[in-house]
Amino acid sequence: MGTLSEELMDERGRVMAEEEEEMIVTPWEVSGKIDYNKLIQKFGTQPLTEELLERLRKHTGKLHLQLQRKLFFSHRDLDWILDQYEGGQKFALYTGRGPSGPVHLGHIVPWIFTKHLQDAFDAKLYFQMTDDEKFLLHPEFTVEKSLSLMYDNSLDVIAMGFDPEKTSIISDFKNIKVLYDIAMRVAKHVTFSTVKAVFGFESSSNIGIIFFPAIQAAPCFVESDLTGKNVPCLIPAAIDQDPYWRVTRDIAPKLGYYKPAQIHCRFLPGLGKGGKMSASLPETCIFTTDPPDVAEKKIWNAFTGGKPTEREQRGHGGDPFVCTIYYYFYYLFEESDQKIAELERECKAGEIICGDCKRILAEKVKKFLREHQKKREKARDIADQFFMK
Ligand code: TRP
Repeated sequence: MGTLSEELMDERGRVMAEEEEEMIVTPWEVSGKIDYNKLIQKFGTQPLTEELLERLRKHTGKLHLQLQRKLFFSHRDLDWILDQYEGGQKFALYTGRGPSGPVHLGHIVPWIFTKHLQDAFDAKLYFQMTDDEKFLLHPEFTVEKSLSLMYDNSLDVIAMGFDPEKTSIISDFKNIKVLYDIAMRVAKHVTFSTVKAVFGFESSSNIGIIFFPAIQAAPCFVESDLTGKNVPCLIPAAIDQDPYWRVTRDIAPKLGYYKPAQIHCRFLPGLGKGGKMSASLPETCIFTTDPPDVAEKKIWNAFTGGKPTEREQRGHGGDPFVCTIYYYFYYLFEESDQKIAELERECKAGEIICGDCKRILAEKVKKFLREHQKKREKARDIADQFFMK
């Protein structure tokens, strides 16, 4: 046996045998094999075309890795927001996080991209912390717990390097005053039957969560509300949040606001077979607060496209397209197209084995974590500059 342990291979056999489940994508559940083209159709969004990417490139210089590798793949009205921008009308950015536990690499994907957009377009950013949403959804959460997770997760947001002059973190609990008047105006136009159909609420759902979509809609219009002008808003987020924006877009004109535009990303796969990175499976996700050696162990246990033995792999090669390690290089940790192409070729040719890739990825992830954790500690000292006043 080569560098792959017997144990790991048993695990691989087990997961390979599992049936493929149906695709489910809602703001609260993502499971099954995700077909992104189908999602574009189902949600009625637009694919990010080469022309649009070219247009973005004109403003941002080199295409960001997440665009280059199509991690962001879909949008609504991005072309329109660029028309506005090119006509001299700036837009505000809006994204957020539901603080239900520690932050992992999957969460920070859209944040990294949002930071890039903030720099490239000199845009204000509203970052919503839906501490209220998580309080409502988790029976065991107290308000104190929600607030403490909000603060803790905010450190990860701040560690991304957003500009404190242009960034406001909105805690729903703490900053409700900024949102309430807008949320009320939104809520007046959204019926129970609409949110029931869009979010699947039932008679047994608590009334807080039924109203909550109005709270998540509100930051789309905060910049307009605060400046007294109609300011376009662009939301970079994973595509599971789209139902919120469908509802918000419907009612925006009724309130005299532009419809919020979106740019959607895929889910970062976990380190197991299939599925997104999910905090409910801690062994398959790398938390930003994981000690580097813990993250390294998770990588060593990751699902790959390797063969059961080193001999077979040398003889027949591996399959990078089912390999989580390859995904991590592709989406996050290897910027060079040439190196990616080499990795792919060497894997398929059996010139490298899984242990080689895991070792390289582990080094990159550990370096990232060490740096992130330093910035995260420094964030405590500057957090006040980021929280909405
Ligand atoms: N509901 C989101 C979550 O559970 C948090 C969120 C609020 C959000 N506003 C957002 C995410 C805007 C993306 C964009 O994670």
